Amino acid sequence: MNKDKEMGLLDGKKYNIITFGCQMNEHDSETIAGMLQERGCAEVPTPAESDITIINTCSIRENADKRFFGTLGQLKKIKERNPGYVACVCGCMMQQQHIIDTVKSKYPWVDIIFGTHNIHRFPELLSKVYGEKMKIAEVFEDSADIVEGLPAKRLYPHKSFVNIMYGCNNFCTYCIVPYTRGREKSRHPEDILDEIAGLAADGVKEVTLLGQNVNSYRGIDGTGRQWDFADLIYGIDDISGIQRIRFMTSHPKDLSDKLIQAYVDCDKLCNYIHLPVQSGSDDVLMRMNRKYNRTRYLELVGKLRRAVPDITISTDIIVGFPGETEKDFQDTLDLVRKVGYDSAFTFLYSIRQGTPAAGYEDQVPEDVKHERFDRLVDLINAGSAKKNAAYKGRIEKVLVDGPSKKDPKTMTGRTEGFKLVDFPGSPELTGTMVDVEITEGKTFSLKGRLAR
Ligand code: SAH
Ligand code: SF4
Ligand code: F3S
Repeated sequence: MNKDKEMGLLDGKKYNIITFGCQMNEHDSETIAGMLQERGCAEVPTPAESDITIINTCSIRENADKRFFGTLGQLKKIKERNPGYVACVCGCMMQQQHIIDTVKSKYPWVDIIFGTHNIHRFPELLSKVYGEKMKIAEVFEDSADIVEGLPAKRLYPHKSFVNIMYGCNNFCTYCIVPYTRGREKSRHPEDILDEIAGLAADGVKEVTLLGQNVNSYRGIDGTGRQWDFADLIYGIDDISGIQRIRFMTSHPKDLSDKLIQAYVDCDKLCNYIHLPVQSGSDDVLMRMNRKYNRTRYLELVGKLRRAVPDITISTDIIVGFPGETEKDFQDTLDLVRKVGYDSAFTFLYSIRQGTPAAGYEDQVPEDVKHERFDRLVDLINAGSAKKNAAYKGRIEKVLVDGPSKKDPKTMTGRTEGFKLVDFPGSPELTGTMVDVEITEGKTFSLKGRLAR
């Protein structure tokens, strides 16, 4: 179906997208929105006001699954009221056959099921639903090629996500992502640089490069030369207009000395790294298939800090992985103390059907998991509070995201080190880089005032 024909069927329709999960999903939703806008659709704030609702799902933990089914249940009423309403579900959950089967059998009001590899086909599927009054389930197991040139409706005018690669080859034994996102594929470096130059021309100041493991980026350029992740950073650092480069996520096993040097050489690369450790116990790391041990991780942190003394570091930690003993958990607490994280995301281990760890026999009882989780969160929060308190009196460059949700006279933004800052200011500052004097460091954010 061509774009004009799709436009004929979709022009003027109102859509609403509900997004669960990580930045990959957020960015996929931006692409879905971009494609719909291109065909004359307009976004509305709630499913009840929409003609088309799209739920972009995440499967990383069980509570993500539960939230999805709860939300899906609510769409039934809208469909009953409005028979022309189209309910669509996509994202990581839809890459699992048992979930597709459940949706089809228990939620018959769903019109379109699509996956993570065929987002570009969504306008055509939607047009078919309107044109031919049919229901569609189309999910590809993996993507043959990367589809370039899709539009995106960005959440912010001044910052943007940029996918540099798709998929994951690591098969950490707890994780569903390699099954829902397929194998690693890197975009060509020119495609990435062109996209970022275009964003810069459009006023974007900060880009966040996305990949499940950006350190294993291997892109081939037009001359056949292979670029690694550090090469790409050097390339982006040369693009005028871009002021900040961030990336998510970087796997410790592949973090190169060349990337650490890029922090030193590239002014635009923010002095911040999210470096998921998952556990501080060598036994657990081995069973997670993470391919590094605590010594190597601590060495990496040491190298980063020697090269970039003011670097801020955050992490992900899983509590209660199968077989985790109190001693293993103590090793995690010890590692957290040794690193001194600025912040950390902590997760209770969640069994994911189809992953190796789901079959491990020595699952940790729920009460033990929760008790360890609370102890870890206390330690991490105390560490964050201490780190943030040390910012008092410092002047930080803040890229302003806009008014805070709670108070329109308070602006929020991020420091180079990715710390959230609130300060009194006016909405005109949105999208600008300002100097903020930090007046208070709290556990999860900083407070400040515009520096004179
Ligand atoms: N690719 C990224 C992680 C993406 S998932 C990386 O490897 O760094 C984000 C985080 O979710 C992971 O770092 C991990 O801490 C957590 N996670 C993944 N699977 C999980 C599971 N089954 N139970 C609990 N937490 C999990
Ligand atoms: Fe999951 Fe591991 Fe891949 Fe991250 S690196 S997405 S945790 S399998
Ligand atoms: Fe969730 Fe898929 Fe991201 S499982 S965390 S949305 S890659």
